Amino acid sequence: MTNMKVACMAIVMCMMVVSTTQAPVRPICDLVKITLADCLDYLTGGVKDPSSLCCDGVKELSTRANTTAIRQKACNRAKDIAMHTSNFNNLRGSGLGLRCSTLLPFPISSNADCTRVR
Ligand SMILES: *[C@@H]1O[C@H](CO)[C@@H](O)[C@H](O)[C@H]1NC(C)=O
Repeated sequence: MTNMKVACMAIVMCMMVVSTTQAPVRPICDLVKITLADCLDYLTGGVKDPSSLCCDGVKELSTRANTTAIRQKACNRAKDIAMHTSNFNNLRGSGLGLRCSTLLPFPISSNADCTRVR
């Protein structure tokens, strides 16, 4: 009986460890979507500076977008969102990496040419 309890606890603890250490990596498109949502106030001109939550996402994006394929995918997703967001400021989108002190390897703009992203 006690052995069973111990075994159960061990299993539960294992599952907890697995779920925290092996959290599935978010697909790049979801990351773009979430990040742009966090940056929305800045990207639509509502606030002067991007929030730290916004910049955390931008930094994660810049490290995750490390292949041409991923960058083009992220570019297309960002473009799609920009096109469907009223008052989206392309200038702010394009400069978002710099504003967050990172180098974003793809543009965030409704008129981006994502086929040219490498
Ligand atoms: C891209 O980054 C991921 C981690 O985000 C890493 O696992 C992968 O090896 C990197 N790929 C390249 C081509 O650098």
